[in-house]
Amino acid sequence: MAMATLGNTDKQAALKLRAAQRALELVESGMTVGLGSGSTATIWIKLLGEKVRDHGLKIRAIASSEDSERLGKSYGIPFVNFDECRSLDLTIDGADEVAPGLALIKGGGGKLLREKIVASASKRFVVVADESKQVEKLGRFPLPVEVIPMATPLVSDSLRELGFTPTIRVNRDGTRYITDEGNLILDCSGLLIEDPSGIAAKIDSMVGVVEHGLFLDMADLALIAGEQQVIERSS
Ligand code: 5RP
Repeated sequence: MAMATLGNTDKQAALKLRAAQRALELVESGMTVGLGSGSTATIWIKLLGEKVRDHGLKIRAIASSEDSERLGKSYGIPFVNFDECRSLDLTIDGADEVAPGLALIKGGGGKLLREKIVASASKRFVVVADESKQVEKLGRFPLPVEVIPMATPLVSDSLRELGFTPTIRVNRDGTRYITDEGNLILDCSGLLIEDPSGIAAKIDSMVGVVEHGLFLDMADLALIAGEQQVIERSS
């Protein structure tokens, strides 16, 4: 179907698929691959899984979330851990915002801690996104900050002092969202981030913060799908 005739949700899904298809071209047999999380990464994992299951692609993987690992395993992708393998050849993951210099906000799906661990262990970290994720400045998407539950009120106060409005993330049923590591997420809205590395350093210094969703100087390439083409942006 022509892109112009699709509704917004279908269009976004089609763009995510395009970015994921392009990312699949980067995978070579023998690689150890990092699997991201979220809807775009999920599309990519399914494409990768089909290559493994139906076309004999030989890879090993480490996932950034329990959901992604479960999905990968359902296609027969073999998984390793950091005891067995310290470094990944390539990680493909989505992003909530992509700013100049490939500064990212991630963690909309709550998996930012493992995503950052996996990305940091990767020789090449490639972002897949549709064009709606591109921004000039980070911060319209609330910045997720993963916190130790006990420290949440203290960290919230410190984030407020920076100008953020932090809100504890909840599930649809109103219960608190718990990360794969048993922590809480504070979604921090209300501040367009002029100085990402300065803000990152301040959040890093807050006791009780486990990780935040600013991914700076980490991505090597972003594959941004638009209606006409997939644009490659490098750092
Ligand atoms: C999950 C993430 C996702 O990569 C990010 O939220 C983008 O997700 P989507 O591809 O569904 O828009 O960081 O923690």
